[in-house]
Amino acid sequence: MMKRTGEVQEADVLVLFGATGDLAKKKLFPALYSMALKGALNVEVVGVASTKWDHEQFVTNAFDAIRHNVDYVDEAILADLDAKLSLVVGNYEDPKVYQDLALALEGKNTPVIYLAIPPSLFEQVTQGLATVGLTERARLVVEKPFGRDLESAELLQEALERVLPEDRIFRIDHYLGKESVEDILIFRFANSIWEPLWNRRYINSIQITMAENFGIEGRGAFYDGVGAIRDVLQNHLLQVLALIAMEPPSDFSSQFMEDEKIKVFRAIDPLKTDEIVRGQYVGYLDEKGVAPTSHTETFAAALLYVDNWRWAGVPFYLRTGKYLAETTLEVVVEFKHPPRMLFAETQEASPNILRFRLGKNDGVDIELLAKAPGDNLATVPVQLNVEFSAALGDRQEAYERLLRAALLGDHLRFTRIDSVLESWRILKDVIHDEPAVYPYFKGTWGPEKVDDLIPAGWIDL
Ligand code: BG6
Repeated sequence: MMKRTGEVQEADVLVLFGATGDLAKKKLFPALYSMALKGALNVEVVGVASTKWDHEQFVTNAFDAIRHNVDYVDEAILADLDAKLSLVVGNYEDPKVYQDLALALEGKNTPVIYLAIPPSLFEQVTQGLATVGLTERARLVVEKPFGRDLESAELLQEALERVLPEDRIFRIDHYLGKESVEDILIFRFANSIWEPLWNRRYINSIQITMAENFGIEGRGAFYDGVGAIRDVLQNHLLQVLALIAMEPPSDFSSQFMEDEKIKVFRAIDPLKTDEIVRGQYVGYLDEKGVAPTSHTETFAAALLYVDNWRWAGVPFYLRTGKYLAETTLEVVVEFKHPPRMLFAETQEASPNILRFRLGKNDGVDIELLAKAPGDNLATVPVQLNVEFSAALGDRQEAYERLLRAALLGDHLRFTRIDSVLESWRILKDVIHDEPAVYPYFKGTWGPEKVDDLIPAGWIDL
């Protein structure tokens, strides 16, 4: 077995580019507060932003964000956080901002630099960091999507690798930080009852849904250049698929995990235009920041096959969208019927279902058939449920786990470049030759066209 990589130095400062932005507000500051509360934030946090705020404005905004996200706020922890926060202000195109940052980081050996900024700025900012020597010792954390397609992801990687090596690049896919998503691994590989069933002989289909009953929430300018395929399908949904479909790794080191995920992606042919349906909700074109004739999709559904020994012939259905009927994140594993339908009258419509609920109130449900009360041998579906928060207590937030991992230099919950490129390869044809985009009404499950992909229909969520 290959050796794991050697000791990694713990970071001694955290730098947040985009410190006055949306992600910082919604996710990063609440995560930092939660770390501080546990005594797990042992570094200073240096924000970088083009918004001309002074220290007080910066801290007030960060604390407002924390108060908005957290039920009960401990003022002593906020005071502690205040002492750790500082802000460097400047335009990312101006060399001065990098010089100021280098000054602020004097004496720090292992900075973690988090780029919570639009992907189009990654290259420029990284070059700026290189000019002041920061890339010689920093770890770089970059948000998804990494590139816009296969070619741009390759170019971005080349640009990053010119100034820092792969083992200091941490690509975020925050779904890999979700405890519910990690539970897929425990569920599959810590329990022995699933493995004999986990293949084409027993499984009829796998359906993965990430649906939101809200829209783009003021992110029109960003979202219109991205769309549902790049925002969610290329990363979150394919990563979840990989965890469902992968072989057990020899151990849970990041290297072996990524090796197994890549094998899954390699077994998937590039999607063809008739294997994907794109939709756009009615009203999208009126959103602020959206081009009036935009063809960007706010919904995408895809059918793909993992063409290997375990999964040959099993359809994997993926769908995601904004303004759908509900907010949910689920993987539904539909099992085949038994070889003889002895109770055919009532049994037919109800295959056994295993459901991973990965969003809020995450847990697992198993749908089985039981004997219906009465004289007859009739079946009735029953559910075995577990809700993890009730059974096990609160889960940690994804961003908190990812920030901690980046500070520790642990790659396990981040994506490696070869797996990112593989996921772009799967989408390359439908990105370059975009299929039509169909309108759908808010509050529905997307355009009717999606039914063509899935003749038997989606299993109810
Ligand atoms: C982000 C997308 O990566 O994930 C957003 O950019 C989406 O569009 C969000 O709303 C959903 O994350 P979660 O953790 O709420 O499922």
